Amino acid sequence: MTAFPLPPNATIGIVGGGQLGRMSAMAAARLGYRCHILTPEPDSPAGQVAAGVTLGEYEDPAALRDFALHADVVTFEFENVSAEGLDLLASLKPVRPSPAVLRVSQERIIEKTFINRAGVPTAPWAPVESESDLAAALAGVGLPAILKTTRLGYDGRGQARVATEAEAWEAYRRLLPHPLILEGVVDFACEISVVCARGADGDYAAFDVVENRHRDHILDLTFAPARIPEETAATAEAVGRRVAEALDLVGLLAVEMFVTAEGKVLANEIAPRPHNSGHWTIDACPASQFEMHIRAVAGLPLLPAARHSDAVMKNLVGPEELALWPEIVATPGLIPHLYGKAEARPGRKMGHVTRLFPKGGLPGPFGTQAALGVLGDAAL
Ligand SMILES: Nc1ncnc2c1ncn2[C@@H]1O[C@H](COP(=O)(O)OP(=O)(O)O)[C@@H](O)[C@H]1O
Ligand SMILES: [Mg+2]
Repeated sequence: MTAFPLPPNATIGIVGGGQLGRMSAMAAARLGYRCHILTPEPDSPAGQVAAGVTLGEYEDPAALRDFALHADVVTFEFENVSAEGLDLLASLKPVRPSPAVLRVSQERIIEKTFINRAGVPTAPWAPVESESDLAAALAGVGLPAILKTTRLGYDGRGQARVATEAEAWEAYRRLLPHPLILEGVVDFACEISVVCARGADGDYAAFDVVENRHRDHILDLTFAPARIPEETAATAEAVGRRVAEALDLVGLLAVEMFVTAEGKVLANEIAPRPHNSGHWTIDACPASQFEMHIRAVAGLPLLPAARHSDAVMKNLVGPEELALWPEIVATPGLIPHLYGKAEARPGRKMGHVTRLFPKGGLPGPFGTQAALGVLGDAAL
């Protein structure tokens, strides 16, 4: 039986071996916990910094049982793990967040239905599982639109933007046989997100709302705080809280949102785990998103999530940006983070860099470009 709060030296099991698990394990180590990782990947980013690894597939009952033996509590670092696998783990050890929360975030139709039921608006959307669905969705949602697979999407994979009916039918045939969702394109002024933590006792803390810029569908830059009116930030914060409470979340939650030209906030998707747009908190907050994740999972008190500095976070994506590493580590003021991935494929997140500014002193685009030094060209 696991008792909470977890005592020092207890072991937190993390399903998934990527950079989010790596940074969670590093935060856990500082709090005196060990981490044990379940991943099919030898030499994974998380495995490199953890006390132990079970090498196996997320659906393999033997691997799951072995993993559970090593863990006092289980969490996960990405959504595309098998929910049935998590159910098996939940029969053996406490799992935080629960498999029910994972299920909501895994499938875009369930996710958007849940978000709308919680009273939070989204882009117009409709499920597409057949030709007649697509015709109805086109009539209801309108064009331009984005056709997305309902599962296993990330960094824009499994998505097609369509401007005409002909393009929609072409994309439909290409994305088959997967179940799909058609979403109206939001003509957004900016993309923002909020990362919040919730404890088993309902304890709650939210980091400042941030602004996110994508390049080739991959997060490129995060500005903390978001350069939006206070009321918009307050609305976004309220969205995070509402969704976290509706989920009865124990752990960490990120909500990605659009802000329209009129200042309307629309939720895009949720992730019940640490999020790329929260990496700046490692350097700009007393307790990072990873520490809050571990605190919530371990039953420790949450801390206020206030930032002590403003920050810009730049992802290092693919071999081109990784090649700038020698200059990055030689530049004072750039705080480097590398994930230990052996191979730098195009589009792969290899690490990130944070640059801090005095609170209230976040510069505009040109100041950001200058402050990022060798990474500045890529930043605009
Ligand atoms: N309905 C939409 N309207 C406008 N842009 C969108 C819409 N859906 C997605 N996008 C763009 O594509 C990016 C990735 O889409 P998202 O739904 O977040 O999928 P992923 O799981 O790949 O992150 C978003 O951050 C946004 O830039
Ligand atoms: Mg997204």
